[in-house]
Order: sequence, then structure tokens, then C-alpha cells
Amino acid sequence: MTKIIDGKALSQSIKDQLKISVENFKNKYNRDITLAVILVGENPASQVYVRNKIKACEYVGIKSLSYKLEETATEEEVIELTKSLSNDNKIDGILVQLPLPKHINEDMVLSCISPEKDVDGFTSINIGNLLLGKPCIVSCTPQGIITMLKSANIELTGKNAVVIGRSNIVGKPISLLLLKENCTVTICHSKTKDIEKICSNADILIAALGKTQFVKENMVKEGAVVIDVGINRTENGLKGDVDFDNVSKKTSYITPVPGGVGPMTIATLMENTYKCALRREEGEF
Ligand code: GUN
Repeated sequence: MTKIIDGKALSQSIKDQLKISVENFKNKYNRDITLAVILVGENPASQVYVRNKIKACEYVGIKSLSYKLEETATEEEVIELTKSLSNDNKIDGILVQLPLPKHINEDMVLSCISPEKDVDGFTSINIGNLLLGKPCIVSCTPQGIITMLKSANIELTGKNAVVIGRSNIVGKPISLLLLKENCTVTICHSKTKDIEKICSNADILIAALGKTQFVKENMVKEGAVVIDVGINRTENGLKGDVDFDNVSKKTSYITPVPGGVGPMTIATLMENTYKCALRREEGEF
């Protein structure tokens, strides 16, 4: 019998605990925790994500400042804003919702986020520290996945983990985190040969490629743990990167879409914002 890892319930309990920590922080340091959220343009999915992130801030008691820029905003304008928030003592965390419009160089913008306020863990310093195994802010989706695996008491040491997708946001950092957990990690991508065979050897399979129901039952080993990072908008509603109905017949654990990884990303963002604020008051993690 497969078990469903309920990201919605887990994220709720994380937010409930955090609510208390945030309240204690405010009483101890006599100030708010503040997250600045930058959204450029009208990408409908990004608008939904940002709305949900702001809602989560309200729930846990983090103050959010939202900066909505027109699609036509210039790279210089976005950089100026990011730099001024990085230098603003009242701001604990900065989130630049990706993707940015095509005329804006994401790397240039992300490099202007102070690493201490980089709640997404997207800056070179945080990614470099993750690679080196040093304390850092880890990007939200990968950290949320590890939290899910640990909450289900899934043993990771020595397991074959296969990650499909090599994005900076998910594929690369989750591979590093699984390596840190002593998994043997294989990263698959669009040029990988014989992807079915590689996936069917996975004890832990992470689908983060952004293709609707790409992972079919013939790609999954009996008893595997499958984590679905995909959020694809289809005519039939939100679908993951995994053919859930068929794949779940073979798995030991699986995450649903919606209600799996998505809410965990947001709960982890709240945790990261709290950590950034605490570090500003108390020093290193
Ligand atoms: N776009 C897709 N996922 C993310 C995320 O985790 N953070 C930000 N800032 N943008 C995203």
C-alpha cells in the first residue's frame, strides 16, 4: 500500500510552530520580521505563487512588503530596487519571483540580493556554501522535499536517488542535499540516454522537469519513493510530472499534486525568512 506524503498538512504544522517562534522573536527583539517580495510582470502562475506567499506571511506573523513592477520595467529599475532593499535595515528577507521577463538578466538581479537576506538561497554565496556543506540558506523547494522525506522517516543513507531535471532552483540543489544525506545521486536531463532504465533503478525518484505526467509506471521500481515537483496547468486542472494514478500503484511513498511539494515550498520560505531575521540578531546559524 502506497502512503501519500501530505505536504499540505505538514506545511500547516510547520507554519503553526513558526507562528509561535515569530511571536517570541517579536517580543524578544521588539520588532517585526519583514520580507520584501518583488514581482515583475503579469505571469499568472507567478501572481498566484506570490499571493500564496504573502498569505503565508500574514498567517505566521511575518510582515510582507510587496513590490509589483510592470512587465516593461527595465533591468536597471529592478536592480536598483533589489539593491535598495538589500541596504535597507528594516528588511530581513528579499524574494524576487522567477521567472523575470525575458529582457531582464536574472543573474544580474539575483547577484544584487544580499546573501544574508537571500530567503530563496539563489545567490552564488548560498549555493556555493551548499556545495561546500557550510551553513547557508537552502532554496525552498529542495529543502521542503528533504523535510517531507524526513517527516515520513524515510531512510536515505545508501539509497539510489535519481533526480530528473537540472534547474538551479530544484534539480541541482536537491541533488546536493540528497548527496549530503548519503544517497548515491544520479541527475537526468533532456539529453540523458535511456532515462527509463536509470529511473527504474531509483529508490528515491525526484521528478522536477516540468513535463505533465512524464514519469510513467514502467519508469518506477516497486516500493520506490516518488516526489513530484511538477506544477503543470492543464485542461484537467493542476497536474504533476508524475502519472500519479498509475505510478502510485507501485510506490511505497508518493507526493500528490496539488497538496504535495507546493505548500512545502511556501512553509520553507517562511522558515528561511525567520532564520534570516534570527541570524541578523544572533549571528551565525
Ligand atoms: N519560481 C519558481 N519557484 C520559485 C521559488 O522557489 N522562488 C522564486 N523566487 N521564484 C520561483
